[in-house]
Amino acid sequence: MKAVICTRYGPPDVLQIQEVAKPIPNDNQILVKIIASAVNSGDVRVRSLDVKGMMKFVMRLVLGISKPRKPILGTVFAGVVETVGNKVSKFKAGDKVFGMTGFNFGAHAEYTAVHQNSKVIEMPANASFEEAAAIVFGGHTAIYFLEKAKLADKANKKILIIGATGSVGTAAIQLAKHYHADITVVCSSEGKKLAGELGVTKLILYDKEDFTKQTEKFDIIFDAVGRSNRKQCKQLLNRNGIYKNVNRYASETTQQLQLLKELFEKGAFKAIIDKTFQIDEIKEAHRYVDTGRKKGNVVLKIGE
Ligand SMILES: NC(=O)c1ccc[n+]([C@@H]2O[C@H](COP(=O)([O-])OP(=O)(O)OC[C@H]3O[C@@H](n4cnc5c(N)ncnc54)[C@H](OP(=O)(O)O)[C@@H]3O)[C@@H](O)[C@H]2O)c1
Repeated sequence: MKAVICTRYGPPDVLQIQEVAKPIPNDNQILVKIIASAVNSGDVRVRSLDVKGMMKFVMRLVLGISKPRKPILGTVFAGVVETVGNKVSKFKAGDKVFGMTGFNFGAHAEYTAVHQNSKVIEMPANASFEEAAAIVFGGHTAIYFLEKAKLADKANKKILIIGATGSVGTAAIQLAKHYHADITVVCSSEGKKLAGELGVTKLILYDKEDFTKQTEKFDIIFDAVGRSNRKQCKQLLNRNGIYKNVNRYASETTQQLQLLKELFEKGAFKAIIDKTFQIDEIKEAHRYVDTGRKKGNVVLKIGE
């Protein structure tokens, strides 16, 4: 099968398309023919190892010293179940599924084998493969942090979302809207259009003003791009206000996928797709995500 191999850490040129063995599912795994994936900020970070100080050392220990131990990158997928292992009861051949491989990576390839109990569920009935692949990364991260921030506890919570136009930010806006929050976002003049399309009317343009000088106060501040710190935002929080920063670890669950599927089917969560690249254009896709300026998500088209 065709796969994107990360030959070492470095610029997008370290990525190569190679023919590798198709995975063979074990008794509890399903073999998924991947139709679409996404290239996310996490993928380019693993490829480039662009992290500071001790984190570089920690990441090498976790991912591989001189190159990724698991050379096929990619953590999200949408596709069709091709075969199932002998003990698989949850899925059958032909099911359309989407999910996340996380630290097992392997989604930038024509096939992946995943455990039936891993983060994989049936796709939203009304989603295309591209849409299903696009909602996973930002969606699960935004759900994780906004659940921690107790967003759903009551309506009309005042939330400030810093960095509203990336994968996590656009997902956070949609979740905040779903839970009837009063939303203010921090984005650039360039991102204003997209934020408006997502229904946000209160915007602070970071290239025109300093959001920390706001007089308004919030119940939740969620930094979806990791550019602020708690101290800087303290005066913007109401009493008992909660500050969350995406820089902290977020864990992935099947429940998050389930929620995304439900919201997508209800029309309460849309896939925000900036660009779509073919698997052979993987270097271009990484170069684009490397800019840190994508709007929403970048889809990687793999199969038909
Ligand atoms: N904890 C976890 O498990 C986890 C999971 C996912 C992501 N993350 C982290 O979350 C961050 C965001 O991820 P992502 O995938 O959403 O990134 P992304 O899609 O690449 O974010 C790009 C967006 O950020 C906006 N942006 C850039 N600088 C900004 C600034 N100073 N203020 C406001 N907006 C700014 C850009 O818009 P403009 O250029 O127009 O401003 C662009 O739309 C990354 O650092 C990533 O590593 C963490």
